[in-house]
Amino acid sequence: MSAHSAQLRSFRSTVMGHWKKEGRHDLPWRKTNDPYAILVSEIMLQQTQVDRVIPYFARWMKSFPTPRKLAQASLEDVLRHWSGLGYNRRAKFLHEAGKWIVEEGMPNEYRELRALPGVGEYTAKAVRVFAYNQPEVLIETNVRSVFIHHFFPSARSVSDARLLPLIEEALDRQHPRQWYSALMDYGTHLKTLHPNPSRKSRHHAKQSPFKGSLREIRGEILKAHLSGAPLATLKTRYGERFIIAYDALRREKMLVQKS
Ligand code: ADE
Repeated sequence: MSAHSAQLRSFRSTVMGHWKKEGRHDLPWRKTNDPYAILVSEIMLQQTQVDRVIPYFARWMKSFPTPRKLAQASLEDVLRHWSGLGYNRRAKFLHEAGKWIVEEGMPNEYRELRALPGVGEYTAKAVRVFAYNQPEVLIETNVRSVFIHHFFPSARSVSDARLLPLIEEALDRQHPRQWYSALMDYGTHLKTLHPNPSRKSRHHAKQSPFKGSLREIRGEILKAHLSGAPLATLKTRYGERFIIAYDALRREKMLVQKS
């Protein structure tokens, strides 16, 4: 389906109208073009809400303002800065990405960005958009919400394949960074008005419950490990599941040996 130009014009002006009045222009990663800072923000934002990321991003950039500073830090220190944000492997990936960037320079091409640890299709394209202002076709939950709400108001299950041509057509090729910032903020706004519009996406993935999950146990083990607390209590509490979580953390080299 191709949107008629009048429909597109009206769509763009709705999104930009919201941006001008209520856009979150002051988000810390929107006040920089530094590709390293943008990479940090996008990795943090992968599975985590904007409001939770803000203080973590600030502390991180204060302690590790450059890839070099990050690369020189110990994994332990890096994990401490992440503690509480969840999906802790992201911190290790960023640490490794920092080392890679020190060796090879900050990439700007899609393929090179994809080669960084922890960087998938969305994150590579997001860095191209938000750091380099390149007109990539970008899709994530907020963008899905906006396009489904506007172009498929009564559909029950919309695939990305149907959204992508519209996203491409609507893209402001002169100002992709501003355009996607506006789209994401408008998507966040729609969530306050309607019950989660992205649930109608065929690719909608609900985050599995944290409480009682292996992910929760992993988080507890890592936290105890970093603070030097004995793991025996957790082992008693969780039994077999402790072993599974612990082994996985060891395999991923998340448990740094302490002297
Ligand atoms: N601004 C830039 N990237 C973003 C993201 N992933 N989520 C929300 N706002 C953003």
